[in-house]
Amino acid sequence: MTAITVNGIERKLQVDPATPLLWVLREQLELTGTKFGCGMAQCGACTVHVNGAAIRSCVTPLAAVAGQQITTIEGLAPSADKPHPLQKAWIDEQVPQCGYCQSGQLMSAAALLATNASPSDGDINDAMSGNICRCGMYGRIRKAIKSAAGVQQFDPALAALAKEINHG
Ligand code: FES
Ligand code: FES
Repeated sequence: MTAITVNGIERKLQVDPATPLLWVLREQLELTGTKFGCGMAQCGACTVHVNGAAIRSCVTPLAAVAGQQITTIEGLAPSADKPHPLQKAWIDEQVPQCGYCQSGQLMSAAALLATNASPSDGDINDAMSGNICRCGMYGRIRKAIKSAAGVQQFDPALAALAKEINHG
């Protein structure tokens, strides 16, 4: 049995620990907001957070995240009646077109803003370069991230961790 915490709820799973986290989320837990695109860490559609950091769930085995805190798009908003600032900005800027890539885009953007309250264009490029949008909404994504940056809750603990990882 493998235990993980997903969107604040502990889940105990009787599945092969080698199963990619993406399929555990979609098939075992019925959290289908996280999408399958390439299955090879190339498109970003499957992006979720593990302890606040953006990862590709299609290539992350369940065993690698045992005991960890997972957040999916379903858990990004602080509450049902209060969207995450990025979700509000996404609507304001009319970012989604077909929508398929959007949960992955939002999760990568949220991980960026949690560690960088005022990202430059270069910071956004670095953080979002692994998220492909076949509808080509990159300009609106950048605009929405900048618009949300002013109201995003900055997390000093995550920022310190990211600094340590980047310089370690
Ligand atoms: S489905 Fe995981 S990166 Fe494409
Ligand atoms: S909105 Fe269609 S792939 Fe991004």
